[in-house]
Amino acid sequence: MTARWNWCWLLLCPVLVWAAAPRPRATPSVSSPHRSPMDLALVAAGRLALTANHTADSVSLVDLDRQKLLCEVPCGRRPSAVAVSRDGRRVAVSNLWSDSLTLLELAGTELRSLGEVAIGHQPRGLCFTPTGASLFVALGGADQVVELDWTSRKIIRRFAAAREPRRLALTKSGKHLVAASMRSSQVRCWNTETGELFWERAIHDSFNLMDVALTPDEESVITTQVHTRHHPIVKHNIEQGWALNSRAARMPLQSNDSSYRQMALDIRNRAVGDPTAVSLTDKGDLLGIVAAGTQELLLIQTEAIPWNPGEAGDFLDSSLDQEDGKFRRVPLGGRPLAVRFLPDGQRAAVANYLLDAVQIVDLRAGTVSATIALGGPEKPSAARLGEAIFYDAKRSHHQWFSCHTCHPDGHTSARAFDTFNDDSQNNPKMTPTLRGVTRTAPYTWHGWQANLGDAVEKSITETLYGKDPTKEEIEAVVAFLGTLEHPPNPHLVDGKRSAAAERGKLLFEGKARCSRCHQGEDYTSKANYDVKLPHDGSPFDKWNPPTLRGVYDRGPYLHDGSAETLDELLRTPHAPEKLGGKALTDEERRDLVEFLKSL
Ligand code: HEC
Ligand code: HEC
Repeated sequence: MTARWNWCWLLLCPVLVWAAAPRPRATPSVSSPHRSPMDLALVAAGRLALTANHTADSVSLVDLDRQKLLCEVPCGRRPSAVAVSRDGRRVAVSNLWSDSLTLLELAGTELRSLGEVAIGHQPRGLCFTPTGASLFVALGGADQVVELDWTSRKIIRRFAAAREPRRLALTKSGKHLVAASMRSSQVRCWNTETGELFWERAIHDSFNLMDVALTPDEESVITTQVHTRHHPIVKHNIEQGWALNSRAARMPLQSNDSSYRQMALDIRNRAVGDPTAVSLTDKGDLLGIVAAGTQELLLIQTEAIPWNPGEAGDFLDSSLDQEDGKFRRVPLGGRPLAVRFLPDGQRAAVANYLLDAVQIVDLRAGTVSATIALGGPEKPSAARLGEAIFYDAKRSHHQWFSCHTCHPDGHTSARAFDTFNDDSQNNPKMTPTLRGVTRTAPYTWHGWQANLGDAVEKSITETLYGKDPTKEEIEAVVAFLGTLEHPPNPHLVDGKRSAAAERGKLLFEGKARCSRCHQGEDYTSKANYDVKLPHDGSPFDKWNPPTLRGVYDRGPYLHDGSAETLDELLRTPHAPEKLGGKALTDEERRDLVEFLKSL
């Protein structure tokens, strides 16, 4: 918590009117951070909404009917989701960077913090059980869903999730819990009464599975994700829909087979970028999908959707692409990240990160009818402008994808793509993380690109095939990349390494001779090396050591993703004895891996 917040920590909401200025843009303040709402929860039959303000470490309460900000209360670092119990009294916010939840109490329009509870690494999606006695939390960095008892503040159950669970959905009775895992593109469903896994489905050739929703009849689960065709990222393939596609999938909730159906969302020449959130109206007649990259809300009549049991195709089904209201695109601007339909069936509320606002969409008119400002600086910094470019799929040829599609939130999708970063084709490479990237020149796996601005320019013109950026735009993206840091490492205890990791450090620097190439604070090097890997057919023959910071949260490893785990990496393709070090015993290798995980 920052000092700025300390004084108001215990105060009740209405007192915090300084932050509740209804026209924050008209009264700018340098100290006022961007609110950047990432998630939104409805309260009081949709009259109120709560937002998780990612860059302000706060939660805001908004009156949707009167279109005004009521109050703002601090929470932990980088909140990513917010949920409310059914009686509207208990509120929980997941703090992505403090590995905690902030619990709050809502009485009328008074929002009061009850403090923070440690929960586990990188909490994201949340949902309360029907009585509100406990809540489920997706731990993105721990590959688990945990259940927290509200009163005792203890974790009472753990469920093993597929890699990087991001969002959750719970049936009305609370019997079935569904988790959508982002990096693995898998969905798991548990029977909460028995605690057993009911089913698991992998959506093939997909990634960025960002959200999940249940149809109101609870027959189906709907997800949104990006589909990869494994073809080179070149203009022709992009135009034909043969590069990356935006999709939704529907799978039965009540049966434990592996089936699912899909729908392609893209339209030729004006595709849909980065489907990020999905929601349904209470009646189930409308499916809403937020496309953050193309900054729009897709409104699709559920009855008209021809869900496809096989290949979904390259483009939106022609029966929907008729401009007859079955499939509508509501432009929102900014970076919309969450949508909830109001119970009146007439409106939807959207959390818009880059606009620092909640938007109300009039469903009949298909337009934004109100924008409720949450607060933020009047003039965006260069980094914020760069952030807007990074997340903007409209910058790409026919608007199919953004930088974020492959480098989600500046990290890695853990997928390989055949981009032109190596000036060649048919040799796909793992997407590197961009965390700490301003410190780790030279760039690309081959390390031939000396300058980050040049790497950004090439990414815009030869990965996105977008129009040439201006010098200012390149500088803005570089400024944004400079803000991407590694989150706190969960393998350190009170900032310290375990004894095994300390032994591993000695091996790293001594016997294994890793520090010959992985040097300094970021464990990389300006030089490129021959590390005894097969030639990839590109014009380059050496490789640049990637940073080892945050390596625990990456993988599969190496440019071709050929090593699934760090242990596998050090056993064969990157064994120390191949690289000028001495062979390690199994125990020594375990210690070395512990050290790597602590970086
Ligand atoms: C289709 C997926 C994809 C998209 C879209 C994409 N990248 Fe990349 N990016 C990659 C891959 C794969 C590499 C590694 C390629 C290589 O080394 O040959 C890479 C490498 C990079 C690097 C070098 C990082 C390093 O540490 O060496 C930077 C910087 C970068 N991308 C920035 C961007 C920016 C900025 C955008 C948007 C303008 C973008 N990328 C869009 C997949 C993508
Ligand atoms: C001769 C230089 C050199 C030495 C010595 C070396 N590395 Fe590397 N390391 C590299 C290069 C270059 C790569 C990238 C290879 C590629 O492009 O696939 C790499 C990749 C890695 C990766 C994969 C990172 C990722 O994101 O995929 C890890 C982990 C790693 N090294 C750890 C080690 C450890 C531990 C040692 C000591 C046993 C070591 N390295 C020794 C140069 C070296």
